[in-house]
Amino acid sequence: MSHFPKDFLWGGATAANQVEGAWNEDGRGPAMTDVTTGGTVNTPRYITYLDKDGNPGTLTRGQALPEGAHYAVLDNYYYPNHLGVDEYHRYKEDFALFAEMGFKTYRMSISWSRLFPRGDENEPNKAGVEHYRKVFQELRKHNIEPLVTIWHFDTPLYLEEHYGGWNNRKLIDFYVKFATTCFTEYKGLVRYWLTFNEINNTIGFIRAPKDKEDEAYQAAYQQVHYQFVASAKAVQIGHAIDPQNMIGCMICGVATYPATCDPKDVLENRHSWERKLLYCGDVQCLGSYPTYAQRLWDEHNVHLDITEDDLIDLASGTVDMYTFSYYMSNLVTTHEVKDMVGGNFSHGARNEYLQYSDWGWAFDPVGLQYYLELIYDRYELPVMVVENGLGAYDTVEEDGSIHDQFRIDYYREHIKSMDEAIKNGVDLIGYTTWGCIDVVSAGTGEIRKRYGFIYVDVDDEGNGTLDRSRKDSFYWYKKVIASNGEDLA
Ligand code: BG6
Repeated sequence: MSHFPKDFLWGGATAANQVEGAWNEDGRGPAMTDVTTGGTVNTPRYITYLDKDGNPGTLTRGQALPEGAHYAVLDNYYYPNHLGVDEYHRYKEDFALFAEMGFKTYRMSISWSRLFPRGDENEPNKAGVEHYRKVFQELRKHNIEPLVTIWHFDTPLYLEEHYGGWNNRKLIDFYVKFATTCFTEYKGLVRYWLTFNEINNTIGFIRAPKDKEDEAYQAAYQQVHYQFVASAKAVQIGHAIDPQNMIGCMICGVATYPATCDPKDVLENRHSWERKLLYCGDVQCLGSYPTYAQRLWDEHNVHLDITEDDLIDLASGTVDMYTFSYYMSNLVTTHEVKDMVGGNFSHGARNEYLQYSDWGWAFDPVGLQYYLELIYDRYELPVMVVENGLGAYDTVEEDGSIHDQFRIDYYREHIKSMDEAIKNGVDLIGYTTWGCIDVVSAGTGEIRKRYGFIYVDVDDEGNGTLDRSRKDSFYWYKKVIASNGEDLA
């Protein structure tokens, strides 16, 4: 007997910039993803610009734009997010397939620059507002509950260039206007909201040369503080507009273990949890900075701009549910590491007990149970796993079928872990697998790193018919949902 509650929200997840395409249609403004090229497992994605004299140039993530330069789409580069998988035009077809699988929920995001093309306008772009209204109505037609991420890595490019992005306190007000528009326009259509996708990535994965580290930490902690305040204000407004709204945080949940039983590794691992995972959850779920925050700031000489009003907002805008992504785990050690593995905004020592995907992500379903039990014990809030999945190569057979047994095996083991966690008392209310339809990878910009139950005929250069087809996992997940997690065969 499985332990999933009868109204468990089974479904799948995507993000606007990774599926929609239509990057410059119906008044949408550009976001950072639109000036980001494709990459591979071994080569980075580049961000492209024109310098003050009009010469083309590239940056990697985290590098600053040179003085006088501006972000630009350049010839001779391919920008995979411009096309995504064309969901903007094909959402009806995609939702019919989700409905065929029996989805109870679909997690998606609203592109900020579709509603506010620059980000600092007073009034939203009507075409953008109406597009999402039709999208939510279509989901409701299929009895699929929308679960909406307000910000999924896509601050409008104009705000990045003209305001310095989240380094600027003004972004709080721009975000709040955007969020308020969403709550108001889609009242009655959307009830489940997430304020910021993987808010902890900014502080969890800082890459800077030693002499620039303090500066990088200062900026990262400040950006996240502004996002905390923006999130807390949005939660309060969301509740005021519709008390039915359930609003969650969203944390990138890479569980970590100490690599050895050396007490120094055990302590280091605990501190890593605090910095990378708990810091954000604690503020968003408990409403104030935790005691260890001062230690983390002191380690890098961080001094934050925090006002009295900010603290009141944090306390008044705690979330209703804890949601997170879970793909893999990592090891933490104070000893020298010879074999480093990386994935999902993190890296650590190789774990000899685990297997790794072609992209170096550990397969660790037990880590999901560990994470769920630890987090529920800490916050005692309803929990949702809003991303979980395996990015892998798919082979299309001559008859068009796709036998992705490895993906089925991955999901089966993670679902068993969730079942165990529920049995042990965790109030798990939903599960949305990542990339229920193939998407553009956020990390590498590839399509060949496929996650979907639904295959999309498009390659890394945008060639293909964009036709959709069902993989073996499609039929398997349909059975899982129909049996409420009972039939995992
Ligand atoms: C999460 C993001 O970090 O992981 C998604 O919220 C992303 O946007 C997913 O797509 C998988 O990562 P990747 O790099 O394989 O796309």
